[in-house]
Amino acid sequence: MITLHLIGIGTGNPDHVTMEARHAIAGADLVLVPEKGDGKSDLADLRRQIVAQVCDAPPVIEGFGMPVRDPALPYLERVERWHDAIAARWSEAIARHPQARDVALLVWGDPSLYDSTLRIAARLDPQPRLRVVAGITSLQALTAAHAIPLNTVNGPVVITTGRQLRDHGWPEGAETVAVMLDGACSFDVLEPDGIAIWWGAFLGMENQILEAGPLAEAGPRIVAARARAREAHGWIMDIYLLRRSG
Ligand SMILES: C[S@@+](CC[C@H](N)C(=O)[O-])C[C@H]1O[C@@H](n2cnc3c(N)ncnc32)[C@H](O)[C@@H]1O
Repeated sequence: MITLHLIGIGTGNPDHVTMEARHAIAGADLVLVPEKGDGKSDLADLRRQIVAQVCDAPPVIEGFGMPVRDPALPYLERVERWHDAIAARWSEAIARHPQARDVALLVWGDPSLYDSTLRIAARLDPQPRLRVVAGITSLQALTAAHAIPLNTVNGPVVITTGRQLRDHGWPEGAETVAVMLDGACSFDVLEPDGIAIWWGAFLGMENQILEAGPLAEAGPRIVAARARAREAHGWIMDIYLLRRSG
């Protein structure tokens, strides 16, 4: 029976790769690496670099092309069909290496947070044994970079997406809101008074950018910094924390 190791690798800084992750990668005999081919290939390169760094005798690395989502389908169905297609690519890649027993996937950040690797793994037939190795999340990288606590004393935290914030506004009753997967600075739908923001892009990477302050002042700076960085790199990954005072 195959064991599928889903290994959190942190958010782009090779130092985020924990000892547990290093041992799991070094113990694998096959590593599957997604290749997006959309300007994010440096993430595939980074995964390959991490494997090379932590293994004396590198395991077999099998790249697989990521399928594209069908824009004609409604959102949820589009994602479901996309996950089916990715699971099929994994199965094909694994089948090309019938001797492999420990198969690894290097998961950005941690597999529990806005990542569908576990949902895709659940589609595999036959089901492999699953092992998850925890990784540093982008949320942890953000709070560490700004040296702030995630929550206030006894306070709850809502973790959501840019799409949710844009469509539904400030989550009811929330004090602290962490926003991920936001391609459009969705904080601009909020009435900024009394809200502070801590923003980070490319966290843990060489080109990390940070901005923070009252939303009314920092918001426009973030919109400009984001546009510049996106223009310079061709893509961007960013995350932010919003906190309402009073
Ligand atoms: C598909 S989710 C994956 C999250 C990942 N599993 C984690 O634990 O952080 C991708 C989102 O995570 C955030 N993210 C991931 N890496 C980041 C980084 N290095 N800097 C800033 N945000 C990042 C962004 O909000 C991005 O849109």
